[in-house]
Amino acid sequence: MKTELYNAKTQKENGTALAGRVIRSGGLVVFPTETVYGLGANGLDGEAVSKIFEAKGRPSDNPLILHVAKKSDVKPLWKHVPDKARILMDAFWPGPLTLVYLKSELVPGEVTAGLDTVAVRMPEHKTALALIRAAGVPIAAPSANLSGKPSPTSVEHVLEDMDGRVDVIIDGGRCSVGVESTVLSLVGEPTILRPGGITREMLEGVIGPVKVAGAVLRPLGEDEQAASPGMKYRHYAPECEVAVALGSPRAAAGIICREYQKAEIEGKSCKIFATEQTKSYYKGKKCVIIGNRDMPATLCAALFGALRDETEGVDLILAEGIPESGEGLAYMNRLLRAAGFTVLRQ
Ligand code: TXA
Ligand code: MG
Repeated sequence: MKTELYNAKTQKENGTALAGRVIRSGGLVVFPTETVYGLGANGLDGEAVSKIFEAKGRPSDNPLILHVAKKSDVKPLWKHVPDKARILMDAFWPGPLTLVYLKSELVPGEVTAGLDTVAVRMPEHKTALALIRAAGVPIAAPSANLSGKPSPTSVEHVLEDMDGRVDVIIDGGRCSVGVESTVLSLVGEPTILRPGGITREMLEGVIGPVKVAGAVLRPLGEDEQAASPGMKYRHYAPECEVAVALGSPRAAAGIICREYQKAEIEGKSCKIFATEQTKSYYKGKKCVIIGNRDMPATLCAALFGALRDETEGVDLILAEGIPESGEGLAYMNRLLRAAGFTVLRQ
């Protein structure tokens, strides 16, 4: 398949109109959002949605998010709109918050992988909103990576995985949030299934107590039922090993320096994912500054890009763990998964 590439700035009108028609006629379009790039198809057309699973190599039991262009578009997709959803939509839509609730008859089984719930979000990115409007239907879209790889946050990363597999790619530059949306289930007690840019603290500020699903920071147990099918699969795996050092900044840096030396003796090539606060501990070692520990959103914004761009010729990435508050929860969720839960303690 020949993939057309459009630039969201220079080919705005034509690109969006054409991509909207491609979606309507059952094709695949990769588009930018504020979180990561999405791989979209007509969310009301089961056959079009099946093509997404094929293009990504995604297990068919992992459901998709429907993307809408205005709050009221959620109404036909759910059985009804619960009060807490209304409050959350008013507070955080458009933005990186996905809400899971009981699905209506309108939503095809291909989107929900046969579940009786459907995930919906209204993105904030102007190009994403323009595309959904041009398509005139909700757009089903997972992250636009091959299944198992880090989600793409730039068009270069999209092309690595999707060139030749989709009809259109819209280049919207870098994604600002850099990790996928927060997924919150409103079936029963509000529960975070995947942390993201809208933090637990922000959610609790408007609806009160919010639980975090158990498998967010640890692997799913052998007999444990996944609260979200996505929890079952290996994610964000770069082409090298990753290990996460836990503890205070000084303790983590100590562990990393020790492991770096050990690995070098074994002939392995290492790189450190450092922070502004700790870079001075790593003088003379190969390291890249991911962001600022006091502003975990900066770490989220850079992680997936670094997992793709900073791993060439590297056997082992040594990364610092950070506290799990605010956006730190989303960062640790992605980092621990990228590491296959390999952690280093003192
Ligand atoms: O930021 C994002 O959410 C991006 C952009 C493109 O919008 N999309 C994204 O989609 O990350 P995806 O498919 O890569 O991740 C969706 C996650 C998966 O872990 C899936 O298992 C979960 O949401 N999910 C979807 N529908 C669900 C449902 N009905 N119940 C529980 N979990 C669901
Ligand atoms: Mg994904």
